[in-house]
Amino acid sequence: MKPMPCSLSRRRGLRLAAGSAALIALPALQLGGVRAQGQRRPTPAQTEGPFYPVALPADSDADLLANGSLRYAKGQPAWVEGTLADASGRPLRGAVVEIWQCDQQGRYHHPGDGGRADPAFQGFGRASVDGEGRWRFRTIRPVAYGARTPHIHLKVRLGARDLLTTQLYVEGDPGNARDFLWTRLAPDERAALTVPFAAGSDGALRASFPIVVAG
Ligand SMILES: [Fe+2]
Repeated sequence: MKPMPCSLSRRRGLRLAAGSAALIALPALQLGGVRAQGQRRPTPAQTEGPFYPVALPADSDADLLANGSLRYAKGQPAWVEGTLADASGRPLRGAVVEIWQCDQQGRYHHPGDGGRADPAFQGFGRASVDGEGRWRFRTIRPVAYGARTPHIHLKVRLGARDLLTTQLYVEGDPGNARDFLWTRLAPDERAALTVPFAAGSDGALRASFPIVVAG
């Protein structure tokens, strides 16, 4: 489908300081769960969609609000972070989490979307999973476009293996119930892929997304 400008724009976002490696450094989060007992259900997979980058951007780090020398100050800034573990709860050290999403106007960096995305928005990023299984991105709260509810595409890679491709949704967004992919999910799958974007103490939203992969 043809993406359209988003109807959820003009939410007032607080500006964050320009990105730096220090801002992305993982704090001593107590995200919990990685070492819990018992087997865990793998995070549900969803379609990759049409807008995975044709070529990865020169700047493909975990700060999507800083693209090269440009800084993106539209939308609602958000920390999107989480854990990555196997079904036994072991952190997947050495894995990489990728995310990609549209800008605040609902546009992807992709020729299939007209190549109209804001050049200051990185649109794609990669985060290495640390020794505790944690990963973190700085980006914006996703917005709706066309018939899609706000979502962030996510992929997990371990070396040459593609372990998971899915999408992350915003808890409580009214567009979820009208989204053709979200409504196909079973209740437990919705719960696994839909997380709150809650106000954080630094002015940015915060979303925590635990990922479990089968192997
Ligand atoms: Fe999408």
